[in-house]
This record gives sequence, structure tokens and C-alpha cells, in this order.
Amino acid sequence: AIALRRGATPCSLPLRRLFSSEPIPDRKVAILGAAGGIGQPLSLLIKLIPLVSHLSLYDIAGTPGVAADVSHINSKAEVTGYQSEEQLGQALEGSDLVIIPAGVPRKPGMTRDDLFNINAGIVKSLCTAIAKYCPKALVNIISNPVNSTVPIAAEVFKKAGTYDEKRLFGVTTLDVIRAKTFYAAKAKLPVHEVNVPVVGGHAGITILPLFSQATPGTNSLSDEDVKALTKRTQDGGTEVVEAKAGKGSATLSMAYAGAVFADACLKGLNGVSDIVECSFVQSNVTELPFFASKVRLGKNGVEEVLGLGSLSEFEKQGLESLKGELKASIWKGMKFAHEN
Ligand code: NAD
Ligand code: LMR
Repeated sequence: AIALRRGATPCSLPLRRLFSSEPIPDRKVAILGAAGGIGQPLSLLIKLIPLVSHLSLYDIAGTPGVAADVSHINSKAEVTGYQSEEQLGQALEGSDLVIIPAGVPRKPGMTRDDLFNINAGIVKSLCTAIAKYCPKALVNIISNPVNSTVPIAAEVFKKAGTYDEKRLFGVTTLDVIRAKTFYAAKAKLPVHEVNVPVVGGHAGITILPLFSQATPGTNSLSDEDVKALTKRTQDGGTEVVEAKAGKGSATLSMAYAGAVFADACLKGLNGVSDIVECSFVQSNVTELPFFASKVRLGKNGVEEVLGLGSLSEFEKQGLESLKGELKASIWKGMKFAHEN
């Protein structure tokens, strides 16, 4: 018997869930690169998402240990681990969402583009397998350089005849998370109430936080403060690379960001309304074929790519200055996919 708490209404959340006629769908999430610096904490966080019924972990090394470890957590998702390339099909089959953090990270002194030569091939081969084994899955690309790896994925899917621009996402959530953290601290606002859109791409000046649209707004920041916050957000990845001094780049904050974005994608797939996150997607917002901006997520992935809104003069300048680099990175990715 269910006793109603004093004051609880019949439509309070637990009861609504209990009597809801709509079952929560089973969702399989695959992580490719699951045994890496990002992959391990990401596997942990995805295991905790109640919407996930099957967590499929794939890496070229170390997967059995990670899968055994994570599988002991008493949350809903069943965990399976796959290691050899022959098992990649099994790892992917039936996936609703595939997250890719496979690839090498930066060391001090490197740019994200310096990772291109190794990571382009990794993303290409993993996306070739996605086209074959789970062509309808949403794909979240974390591997750098995101500004090039997302166009590579798009070209691989086009070649395979499976491309659906609504299902391909470059994960830029870490830029949003950094912008929120730095803004809240500087403006002395409660960080959990803060939101800051970040547009453009995911490298250096292509990362453009829109502090003029931050909520809650503030009058306490000078133009110099906004410039410094912008620079810190753009250099956030490098700040971590330098602090780790040769032991890789952001893994823990990235795993958190990856889980936030994956959760949003799953909610969208399940028909939850008004799920909006920034992501690097195929876009008409500017003249560039891919661009990060706010995206409304729905049952088919991208439901709507939202426009930029009104920008400050400083942000307008930032937008114009990022286009050259972003365009070159996009073309580099497309060219690689065509030639290889
Ligand atoms: P890592 O070296 O710790 O882990 C990478 C993992 O990928 C390793 O376990 C490796 O075995 C695996 N791997 C390599 N080739 C593979 C393949 N063909 N198939 C499956 N797995 C494969 O690196 P990391 O710190 O986890 O970073 C991974 C990537 O994420 C890097 O490219 C990094 O630059 C990027 N990154 C992106 C963001 C972002 O905001 N988008 C943030 C942080 C890091
Ligand atoms: C980040 O922003 O932390 C990642 O893109 C990793 C990196 O190389 O900076």
C-alpha cells in the first residue's frame, strides 16, 4: 500500500512515475576508449544514469578490468566489456548512443591539431564500424581535435550511406562547464544557478563563450574581466595539460561533461521536452558547415539548432576571428576522410 505523505499531491513525481503508462525504454550506451583517462570515470558516471539499461565498454587494452570493476556497482545498467577489434561489432550492436573518447591526449606544448595524425585514423575506423553495426545510434565525439574529428565522422557516414546530421555531435560541454565555473566565481554567483552558452568550436580562439548572455546577468564585471574570463575559458584545456605536466589532459572534468551531455541526449531520445545543450554539429548558423551553438535535443537527436542571439561587440569580433581557423580544421578533417 502507498501512504500519501501529508501535503503530497497525487501528481507528485514518485507517484506519477509509478502510475505512468509510458515505460522507460531500454537504452544501450557504448563507450569506445573506455579504459582510458576519460573512459574510466566516464564509464562510472554513465553506469549511474538511471536511463541506461546496458553499458557496453570497448577499448583496445584494459577493458576486462574496467568492465568487471564498474559492473559491481548496484545500479540498473548491465555492463559488458569488449577488447579485440573482432568484438567491436558486438560492442556496438543495438546501441542507442555511442560515446568516443578513444585517442591520444596532448602533452605540454602541443595543440589539439597536433593530435590529428593519430586520432583522425582512430575516429575514422571506429565510425566505419558504427556505420556497419549501429547506423541509427547518436554519436558523441570527444576525441580531439573535435573541430576536425566531427567532419571526419560525417564524411565516413556519408560514404557508408548512413549519415544523418541529427545524430552526430562534437562534445563541447566541457567548455560550457568551465565558462560556468569561472563566471560564477568572478561574479560571486551560486554556480549551480549559472548558465553560459559557448559557441564556435573546441580549440583555442574557436571556443567563444557568450558572457553577454550568461544567466543570471551581472553588472559587476568590467570589459577587462570579460576578456580575462574569455581567455581563461579558451585556455582551460591548456591550463590542465600544463598542470598535469606530461600526464595527459582533462579526464575527470571531461568525464563529468561527457556524462552531462550523454544524459541530455538520452533524455531527448526518451521524449523529455526542452533539453538544450551546446554542441558542435552540422549547422546553418554561420557560413561554416559545422559550428557549436545551443541545440535542442529530441527523439531523433538534434531537433533544432538554435541561433546565436544578440552578441556584444567583443563577441562579434571573436566570432569573426575564429572563422578562419575553424574553417581550416573542418576542411582538414573532410579532406582526410576523402583521401584515406
Ligand atoms: P587516454 O590515452 O588516457 O585514453 C585513450 C584511450 O583510447 C586508451 O585507453 C586507448 O587504449 C584507447 N584507444 C586508442 N585507440 C583506440 C581504438 N582504435 N579503439 C578503442 N580505443 C582506443 O586519453 P584521454 O585522456 O582519455 O583522452 C582521450 C581523447 O579525448 C584525447 O584525444 C583528448 O584530447 C580528448 N579530450 C577531449 C575533450 C573535449 O572536450 N572534447 C576533453 C578532454 C580530452
Ligand atoms: C580540453 O579542453 O580539456 C580537451 O580538449 C583536452 C585538451 O587537449 O585540452
